[in-house]
Formats: sequence, structure tokens, C-alpha cells
Amino acid sequence: MTGVEKVSLDWSKLGFGYQKTDRRFIAHWKEGRWDAGTLTEDNSLHIHEGSCALHYGQQCFEGLKAFTTKDGRVVLFRPDENAKRMRRSAEALLMPPVPEEMFIRACEEVVRANLRWVPPYGYGASFYLRPFLIGVGENLGVKPAPEYIFSVFGSPVGPYFKGGLQPVRFITSEYDRAAPNGTGSVKVGGNYAASLRAHEIAVKEGFADCIYLDPATHTYIEEVGAANFFGITKDDRFVTPKSNSILPSITKYSLMHLAEQYLKMTVEERPVPIDSLGEFVEAGACGTAAVITPIGEIVHRKKSYTFYAGGKEVGPVSRKLYDLLTGIQTGVVEGPKGWVHEVR
Ligand SMILES: Cc1ncc(COP(=O)(O)O)c(C=O)c1O
Repeated sequence: MTGVEKVSLDWSKLGFGYQKTDRRFIAHWKEGRWDAGTLTEDNSLHIHEGSCALHYGQQCFEGLKAFTTKDGRVVLFRPDENAKRMRRSAEALLMPPVPEEMFIRACEEVVRANLRWVPPYGYGASFYLRPFLIGVGENLGVKPAPEYIFSVFGSPVGPYFKGGLQPVRFITSEYDRAAPNGTGSVKVGGNYAASLRAHEIAVKEGFADCIYLDPATHTYIEEVGAANFFGITKDDRFVTPKSNSILPSITKYSLMHLAEQYLKMTVEERPVPIDSLGEFVEAGACGTAAVITPIGEIVHRKKSYTFYAGGKEVGPVSRKLYDLLTGIQTGVVEGPKGWVHEVR
């Protein structure tokens, strides 16, 4: 994987944005089966005006990253977990699941076809992959689509929240991104459409994003924008919310494992009352895009909670977890078996 001439980009200045890369993967499902899929240079889709994805939100997606390791390999981080989650999302919306083999092969093909866009080691940048599955084909009534498209494109990216490992501020929202027994635990577009207004309000008020509370009672913390929440207690426990309207973050489950196995911390996944935020000396948002973003402050109904160093610095546990996670992703730290998947 070494020796590829890279495109001319300032890798250290990348934000989280779309960049057209050379080729993307596209496969079609029709009459009960998937075709083999192919790579294409065309970055637009031509779909039927009645497509269920457009009218009834019958679509789901994933997000995962490829990294260049210190020794020049290119690896995907836990792509099998994304494939499994996409299967659950597809099943929730009555879409034909993408076989795990096809999901991983598509990601690998897109990485190989765009190697010159994969950021080199050492810039804190990565190649973000966006697999998506949409219901297409002629339709009018509310029912599952007759045909489906599965596609994967990729883009080089830097940090999701400006500044990388810098504490940022959040405010709780009075809106919900998902219903108590709805689609919050799967990665479907409707959850994100429902989050746009809350996000915009938070940003207008000077916050990085909003925090969602449980949709039934608004008393427990659920998600931090498009990332999961964790808090570190004074006695070094890693605490993260449990609820069936939270997206099960692959990063979060990875951090829970690292906290327990590598840092020998106690890990608790349980409801976290918003008025118990005072028990945390550190807090963070975690996800593929957010990596670990330290939370400096949370404002909830005019009450402010600050974390490590008055919300001005990254706490030591968050820093250790960040170093472990990114070290594993870039081949500097030995991770649990199967966490990095080399693209050959
Ligand atoms: C709503 C939401 N929560 C959490 C996450 C983090 O999940 P992961 O760590 O699997 O990227 C994401 C991103 O996928 C998300 O969109």
C-alpha cells in the first residue's frame, strides 16, 4: 500500500467535509437478489421519482474510517461491526440486508480505488467511508420499495468538531431525535432529519451541538449530537447511558473494552440522569467522526455543568482512551484481535 502518489492536499487542515474522490461502489437489488456491484466514477444517482427513500425515508447508512498505519498499511477499523449494524438498520425498515461479505468487499474496493486520497500517517486525518442503502424504483403508496441500491463512497476527513482534542460546549435540547420505541437504535436518515433543527438551535446559541435526553421523560442523557456520551467519575468509573433509543456506537463499545481491559477501570452502561452530571470529573462524546471529543461544559435548562479543569482542558482518562484508540487504529498500539482489518 505504500508508494502511491498522493493527491496534493493539506492533510493537517482537513475538516469533516465531502471531497469528490475517484471511484465509488454501487450495487443493485432487484427481484430478490443483489448483483455483484461495480466501481464507478459517477458521483450522482439517477433514481425513480417515486423512490421510497425520497418520500418515506426508507434508507439507512453507515460511517467508518480507513487509516494509514505507521508502517504504511491501510486498515479499516472494525468494518464487521458496521456491516452488522447496517443489517439491523435494514431489517428495521424492511430493506434487504447487504451481506457482510459484500459490505466489507465494497469498503475495501473503494479504499483501493482511491488510495491517493487516503491521508498518510501522522496528520490525524483518515479516509471516511459512507456506505448507504436506499429504497428505489416505481412506487406511490407507503410500502417497502421494489428495488434497492447499496453504494459506498469515501472522502478524506479531519476532525468532526473543530479543534480535535479540545473541550467543547453542549446544550440539552427540548426536541427528540427518535421515539422511545422508534428507530433511535438504528442508523436511518429519519433520525438525522429530526435532529437538524435541534442542532441548528444549539449552534446559533454558541454551542458545538446539542445533547438529546430520553424521549419519554427528558430526565436521562442519551446522545451528544451524532455521538454517544461517556462520563468518568472521581473514582475512575467509565459510565455511559443505556437506552433503546441510542445508536449503539462502535467507538463507545470499543472504549468500554479499552477502559476495562487496558486501563482496568470499572465500566457501567446504565441510565444516566441529567441531574447527576455532577458525579463526573470528565465527560466526552465518542463516535467514528467525533473520535473522542472532550466535553467542557453542558448547559441544561440554564444550569451549567463543567468538567475537567473547569471545562478548559482534556482530562487524563479521556486522553489515555484517545491515545489507545487512535494508537490501535494507526498500528502503534496492539489492539484486540480483529479490530483492524488490513486492506491489501
Ligand atoms: C446518532 C449517533 N450516535 C452515535 C454515533 C457513533 O457511532 P460509531 O461509534 O459507531 O460511529 C453515531 C455515528 O455513527 C451517530 O450517528
